[in-house]
Amino acid sequence: MNAPPAYGVGFGNSFATEAVPGALPQGRNSPQRPAFGLYAEQLSGSAFTAPRHENRRSWLYRLRPSASHPPYRPYAGARWLRSGPFDETPADPNRLRWDPLPLPSEPTDFVDGLVTYAGNGDAASGAGIAIHLYAANRSMSGRVFYNADGELLIVPQEGVLRIASELGRLDAPPGHIAVVPRGVRFGVELDGPARGYVCENYGQPFRLPELGPIGANGLANARDFETPVAWFEDRDEPTEVIQKFQGRLWSTTLDHSPLDVVAWHGNLAPCRYDLARFNTIGTVSYDHPDPSIFTVLTSPSEAPGTANCDFVIFPPRWMVAEDTFRPPWFHRNVMSEFMGLVHGAYDAKAGGFAPGGASLHNCMSGHGPDLESHAKATAAELKPHKIENTMAFMFESRWVIRPTRYAMEAGTLQRDYDGCWDGFAKADLPK
Ligand code: FE2
Repeated sequence: MNAPPAYGVGFGNSFATEAVPGALPQGRNSPQRPAFGLYAEQLSGSAFTAPRHENRRSWLYRLRPSASHPPYRPYAGARWLRSGPFDETPADPNRLRWDPLPLPSEPTDFVDGLVTYAGNGDAASGAGIAIHLYAANRSMSGRVFYNADGELLIVPQEGVLRIASELGRLDAPPGHIAVVPRGVRFGVELDGPARGYVCENYGQPFRLPELGPIGANGLANARDFETPVAWFEDRDEPTEVIQKFQGRLWSTTLDHSPLDVVAWHGNLAPCRYDLARFNTIGTVSYDHPDPSIFTVLTSPSEAPGTANCDFVIFPPRWMVAEDTFRPPWFHRNVMSEFMGLVHGAYDAKAGGFAPGGASLHNCMSGHGPDLESHAKATAAELKPHKIENTMAFMFESRWVIRPTRYAMEAGTLQRDYDGCWDGFAKADLPK
């Protein structure tokens, strides 16, 4: 873990990488005797028969086969982690907002620091998402995690996540995202306190959105995604493996580290992306476009254009629109919206939405600028203006996002959130 991680570039392409020269078989996936006695193993993230453009799999060449392990037993940690069905509390039509998740006072690693705020669908049906926050203060030492229920899109808000996975290492500081596919084992090392957001995706894997008339370039460009090169640890020491399977956590202990993949090739691998690379597109005349223009990654559902989950960001950008109300407008939406803030301030709220906090505006709930933001925006001189030093984001889903009991009973829930829309004067019709 000494040298900084190295990466290949591109999204969803086929990579080929080896940490030891000669470890990666040439011309075939499963030779009779892989080099050095390595074990060949296919990791499939899609059905074998998924269409080629949907097919994701990698071949791993490892020191020991994954199949060799003792039984898994229930794991009692991460007591606020939930999966669907999200029926602990009634689905709440109110606008909800939370103060930042407190950092832990006890030693807590990434897995035990996961707290579920909301979700929809469930892992068993292969649709929906769970939205977790994490707050941690120590590295996962001597243990790794994998999620059999879905892929993980991780949005660090505070502290660098040093992710060591079976397929290599990647660093995810605040301002980056990391995506870890279903089934890939990984550990998380920290330099200090860490907090952030996780979208656990039970549906189709995240991919880049279609660009339509935008053309061949723009939004998140494929070349800006970084996938680790092969890296492994040859460590014959007890290592706990925790897996999430159908909503519950299970644990077993190996006599070695399973991060022992010496070479791999394929298109199923973790990646990271620097949100500062996002090519933000907006109006150069009037009205700002729908926020779908800010989609970084999307998990489609079977209904065209109607996402299981869109990951959308609100990055620094120029505002130049003429005769236009420039902040996000008032709206009601069939899609449900869970927002978080990495840093800075979001331009539709004058206060109350802090980095590490969250908000939930569910299907058809009216929301938009608060009183103060509205007053400011309607009085503003419409010269070019740059929104800087901010990074808000949204997990948006076609299904109602149901809060957990934790989220509804948390001390961080702002009981007075509705108040930010109080006091709007009635429109004044001509007499
Ligand atoms: Fe909205």
